[in-house]
Amino acid sequence: SLEVRDIAGAPVVIGGGIAGLMTALHLAPEPVVLLTNAPLGTGACSELAQGGLAASLGGDDGPDFHLCDTIAAGDGLCDEATVRRVVRAAPEAIRTIQRFGVDFDQHPDRALRLGLEAAHSRRRIVHAAGDATGRELVRVLIAAVRRTASITTIENVEVRRLVVQDGSVIAVVAAGRAGALALPTRRAVLATGGVGGLFCDTTNPAGSWGHGLALAAWAGAELADLEFIQFHPTALDGPRRPMPLVSEAVRGEGAVLIDERGERFLADTPGGELAPRDVVARAIWHQLAVGRRVFLDARQSLGPRFGKRFPGIAELCRSAGIDPATDLIPVRPAAHYHMGGVAVDSAGRSSIEGLWACGEVACTGLHGANRLASNSLTEAAVTASWVAESVAGTSYTRRPRRCSTFVPPRPDASVVLPIVSAALGIIRDGEAMREAVATLLPIAANSVAASGPALVSLMIAAAALRREESRGAHCRSDFPLHDANVRPSRLTLHSAMRAA
Ligand code: SIN
Repeated sequence: SLEVRDIAGAPVVIGGGIAGLMTALHLAPEPVVLLTNAPLGTGACSELAQGGLAASLGGDDGPDFHLCDTIAAGDGLCDEATVRRVVRAAPEAIRTIQRFGVDFDQHPDRALRLGLEAAHSRRRIVHAAGDATGRELVRVLIAAVRRTASITTIENVEVRRLVVQDGSVIAVVAAGRAGALALPTRRAVLATGGVGGLFCDTTNPAGSWGHGLALAAWAGAELADLEFIQFHPTALDGPRRPMPLVSEAVRGEGAVLIDERGERFLADTPGGELAPRDVVARAIWHQLAVGRRVFLDARQSLGPRFGKRFPGIAELCRSAGIDPATDLIPVRPAAHYHMGGVAVDSAGRSSIEGLWACGEVACTGLHGANRLASNSLTEAAVTASWVAESVAGTSYTRRPRRCSTFVPPRPDASVVLPIVSAALGIIRDGEAMREAVATLLPIAANSVAASGPALVSLMIAAAALRREESRGAHCRSDFPLHDANVRPSRLTLHSAMRAA
């Protein structure tokens, strides 16, 4: 095993998406180690983000409107204080990203072009390169990271353990091609993304199986609201994985959803095609369940303008043999975003001393039971600076110790995909979830190689079973109504295992 002495003690940020890159940049000039499990610029979910970042920058907008929309979409479970802090900080986060060098799309008078997405009462989605916002942000932030001498980037290593002693992080253990890597540190930041890779139909890369949740759970951290998984209503229906997204911004520009008979099945729903994401995903699910295909029709609203406003999506469609200017686009819902995650406070601190979380792996309370579109990159950008400030302001008198370098084998998520997809999809019921728990438990407990994804799936199933109501993205056919008593959910590895 290899020990890296010259950076020993520096904070370690795990994850190369927008949350990880921005946390590392905000920490400069303090030395920081950035660990990524793939070459920077490949494999992070952020790169696939199309819509953009929500911020109240329009003349008709303000943080209070953004707050109301976020809380309405969150279906009773948002933490209002967190929402208030994030929406107030969002415009400044956009300016910070611009200072890092990102050119957001602008009108000829240099005002930002603002897109509209579902359940937003105002145009407030800031985007770049049309519909390649994530790719553009990641590209520019990586260039900034490469220019920053205080950031040591170690690519192609997978973190296998957070070593915790007496309730505090003392080291991060990773494995790469060259062997094991033990980084003594008392400050670790998880920025590892979500869990969409646990599902067969997903917009997330296969590596998004909840790696950070497993690390946090093994370390003993508290996890929150794990049952809330958002399904994007309109992934391009076809064999490609991850499924290409057809951004909500396309519906924001007037595209409508029709069934195979040409009927607009959302015409009578409040908000229509721009109703909250959980509502639209369920409406499509019901069409598919009765055997009808569903299409997005942008022929009238965008027609020949489609390729100019959405060049990336037009290309994705064309590679599937569809011209979105003249053809219907076949769509179906796909697992997209995890509202739950590592429970963190307003500085991104978890319940374990020395462990922070940021971006999708964290649960700040911003999204509640159903995330408002494009609030995720905003949250990552805003909270990265809060986390960095907290990490930089935390000093320890004791040096981190040497640690054991036991490295468990690389996990394989594929074994759990059919189980998770069948039991934890858009419509759930107790019987299917109990069966999933019974199947997952021995895999999580016995097979070390499969234990990470199986463990994360088991914890999600345990949380989903415990919530005997339907709320936001968690919809149970056996408990179709809201419980009058709204409560966030919390669990640890031990409580999940006990419940299972
Ligand atoms: C989209 O562009 O529809 C996705 C945006 C998001 O998930 O926030």
